[in-house]
Amino acid sequence: MGEHIILIGFMGAGKTTVGRSLSRRLQRQLLDTDAMIEARAGMSVSRIFETEGEASFRRTESEVLSGLAQRRSPVIVSTGGGMPLREENRRMLRQMGHVVYLRVKPETVCARLASDTSRPLLQGGDRKEKIRALLAERGPVYEAAAHIAVDTDRKRPDQIAEEILKALDMSGT
Ligand code: S3P
Repeated sequence: MGEHIILIGFMGAGKTTVGRSLSRRLQRQLLDTDAMIEARAGMSVSRIFETEGEASFRRTESEVLSGLAQRRSPVIVSTGGGMPLREENRRMLRQMGHVVYLRVKPETVCARLASDTSRPLLQGGDRKEKIRALLAERGPVYEAAAHIAVDTDRKRPDQIAEEILKALDMSGT
């Protein structure tokens, strides 16, 4: 198994902010798969969904992950919420290093993303219901993909980062 720390979980779980905290603490680079996809496509995730469709986004997502899996020096990876949905991605994630699931309640996601316009899967219709249904469907997938899971509701990113490092036995590093 590799030495990367990979954060997975639902939209709004705090993967990027917790990733920043881990990156600071461990002095390791943070790589965000959505940001890498956007840089590669030269457009936002929303625009990719709109012009090329979700299937194309998912293909690029797997390609970006496979590129990341080749990296040697250990980094922190923040993934898009749908990354663990593909079996091939779950396999790659687990080979790359410690897969950490940031668990979050639907109410927390609703509150955090109440006015968000950057998540194509949550646009239009009853947002609360969409979050509840998607999270119910994906929860077991995240649990199965992860080596460890951390509850994130009502916690600060630094607190969550500390918990992760403790669970990975990396507190003093
Ligand atoms: C998605 C989550 C988003 C982004 C895309 C699809 C998903 O990333 O990859 O909108 O399927 O859950 P965040 O989890 O960073 O919001």
